[in-house]
Amino acid sequence: MQSDVFKLGKVSGQCMSRISPRVAYNEVLSLLKTHNQWFADSIPLIASENIPSPAVREAIASDFANRYAEGWPGERVYAGCTYIDKVEFRCMELAQKLFKAEFVDVRPISGVVANLAIYSAFTNPGDVMLAPSIPSGGHISHGKKEHAGTAGLVHGLDIEFYPFDAEEMTIDVDKTKQKVQELEKAGKTPKLAMFGGSVFLFPHPVKELADFLKSYKMFINYDGAHVAGLIAGGQFQDPLREGADAMTMSTHKTLFGPQGGMICSFNKYSDEIKKATFPGMTSNHHLHHMAGKAIAFAEMLEFGKKYAAQVVKNAKALAEALSSSGFMVLGEKRGFTKSHQIVVNVLSFGDGGTIEADLEKANIIINRQLIPGDIKAGRNYFHPGGMRLGVAELTRLGMKESQMKQVAEFIKNVVVDKKDKKKIALEVKQFRKKFQKVRYCFESKIGGYDYVKIR
Ligand SMILES: Cc1ncc(COP(=O)(O)O)c(C=O)c1O
Repeated sequence: MQSDVFKLGKVSGQCMSRISPRVAYNEVLSLLKTHNQWFADSIPLIASENIPSPAVREAIASDFANRYAEGWPGERVYAGCTYIDKVEFRCMELAQKLFKAEFVDVRPISGVVANLAIYSAFTNPGDVMLAPSIPSGGHISHGKKEHAGTAGLVHGLDIEFYPFDAEEMTIDVDKTKQKVQELEKAGKTPKLAMFGGSVFLFPHPVKELADFLKSYKMFINYDGAHVAGLIAGGQFQDPLREGADAMTMSTHKTLFGPQGGMICSFNKYSDEIKKATFPGMTSNHHLHHMAGKAIAFAEMLEFGKKYAAQVVKNAKALAEALSSSGFMVLGEKRGFTKSHQIVVNVLSFGDGGTIEADLEKANIIINRQLIPGDIKAGRNYFHPGGMRLGVAELTRLGMKESQMKQVAEFIKNVVVDKKDKKKIALEVKQFRKKFQKVRYCFESKIGGYDYVKIR
């Protein structure tokens, strides 16, 4: 099978640039500034994104960005870590409290790296992993080798997909049990069961399956990349209490920190995880982002409950408004969503790729999405049947349910009514004027998208 989930981009002709260094330098700085302004004028609905607080941005711009601190705090490979160690100990303590975790490793530099550390710590190449398929919400880091998925391509895992119930939009418990029994008979008992995903509307059945999977000696990892902020705020399932052995995550999606990753687990697994993270997966672990994580965890401990509750209310309000406007919103049977995400089947109006491009022209930033049935129908990642929306960033900007109705109206204007996209972009810009500051944080003097010149 060719990579019908992800097509590889064409390699464009590369040529030696004739542009002068000074012109290129100015160009890059000017593009950065223009980008910030564009996002300040737009409706950002990418479900894997968020906006960090000014304090997190300050950490990212600090001298921690320029240092090395390989290893565990207190046992570094380099000198110069006096203050870095203090921050990292505090970061771990805050993370432990936030996720009620015995053991945390804050060093993975992304969610994918956190997943790879788990694969390396608890499986060998050739082992079988149970994971959600991409059209049923799985992430490419759980994917097969033939799709260039990280688990298959980089760690040599053999991936078996969970049976998925497209109406309930979650993993099918009974069929999963049957499948595991069949895999055992075929001599392919999975070593690792991966829960969690990129399309994640409803909690996965961790507590329903944990005992069963453990009776086959499987290690259970929960990939909370998307929903970590909701878990921290007490608005989603609590995987470590439901039977997961570890939880991996990104620190920048619903959890509103800097780009990065993290692993939460139990003391009994700490040695394997620590080794896999360093020296296995990272040498230096991006210390400015580690400091940003500490700040975001403190913010989350203080404001996370209110934030997460509003995220889920906003997602539901947007789903309901879109459904009332004629969109086929998935998960209707279960009230559309219990997370920050909404998934819409857009096939009545075009395909996900075209609609994504149209909305972008109207300053509405969403992503096209493979949905159940797409691959069988011959659709691919460039022109899938769906779009995915996430409301974490809009919530962080202070938006509530009434603004969600307005957002749905803008989307309808573009996708259903085919109104002039330039005109909608101007209306969006006007709408955004009142929502420029980041909320749910200790200090917010500057706007979330203000371009900070420190030259
Ligand atoms: C379920 C899941 N896991 C892992 C990742 C990768 O996270 P990162 O971009 O932090 O590597 C993503 C990214 O969107 C994801 O959705």
